[in-house]
Amino acid sequence: MSVLVENIPQHVAIIMDGNGRWATKRGLPRIEGHRRGVETVRTATLAARDLGVRMLTLYAFSIENWKRPQDEVGALMGLLEYYLKRELETFVRDRVRLRTIGRIEDLPAGVQKVLRMTTEETKHFNDYTLVLALNYGARTEMVDAARAYAAAVAAGHEKLNDSSWETFDRYLYTAGMPEPDLIIRTSGETRVSNFLLLQGAYAEYIFTPVLWPDFTKADLAAALAEYSRRERRFGLTSEQVKAAMDK
Ligand code: FPP
Repeated sequence: MSVLVENIPQHVAIIMDGNGRWATKRGLPRIEGHRRGVETVRTATLAARDLGVRMLTLYAFSIENWKRPQDEVGALMGLLEYYLKRELETFVRDRVRLRTIGRIEDLPAGVQKVLRMTTEETKHFNDYTLVLALNYGARTEMVDAARAYAAAVAAGHEKLNDSSWETFDRYLYTAGMPEPDLIIRTSGETRVSNFLLLQGAYAEYIFTPVLWPDFTKADLAAALAEYSRRERRFGLTSEQVKAAMDK
């Protein structure tokens, strides 16, 4: 498929939603929806790169997801481990760098092990990065960053009087990553659910009714096309943005 889109977002983030509904609509157990969702993760990862995106962040498991029924949580962790073991080879072959954001240390030991191995083996790829948000919550990230920042101040590595967004930003899980330009949520829900609240301050949001297991490369291309038609102003006026672009 060839899609001509100007102004491609460098970093796209996706709230993958609708696995449960996809399964329920077909009279299947919810976990079947997650299983199909894993296949969409693979499709979306390669599709984003084909379309010129440099970084894709996927909200795979939120801090709040632990409150789901134990069997669903267990199945999701099992799927994650299965997915990572299966993909390691393709990440290396396709030069996909894997990175994570979230409280990884609270995930099951088996998942942590395969995550560590995969991030280590792919860390030298720098054309395209897949970021998995795992055990992630923006408020927890904020608390963790505040703690780390306070510790750095106490140790004399940071000066409280020099505090700025640029210095604080380095203590977030996303340190060193570009901010998301575009955040997509599937399944028709129009919430941000504690996802990249600070980093998404200037992101464009697109909400699509498509359920995650049904999300295709064409849906992603449509979102990129819509993004390219929007004018990002970062607090400026439209005239100022146009003048800056004409320079
Ligand atoms: C939302 O669907 C999706 C999740 C809670 C998790 C997303 C997980 C996957 C796509 C599979 C595992 C991920 C990886 C990276 C291997 P939902 O269950 O909330 O759907 P519903 O709102 O229709 O119930």
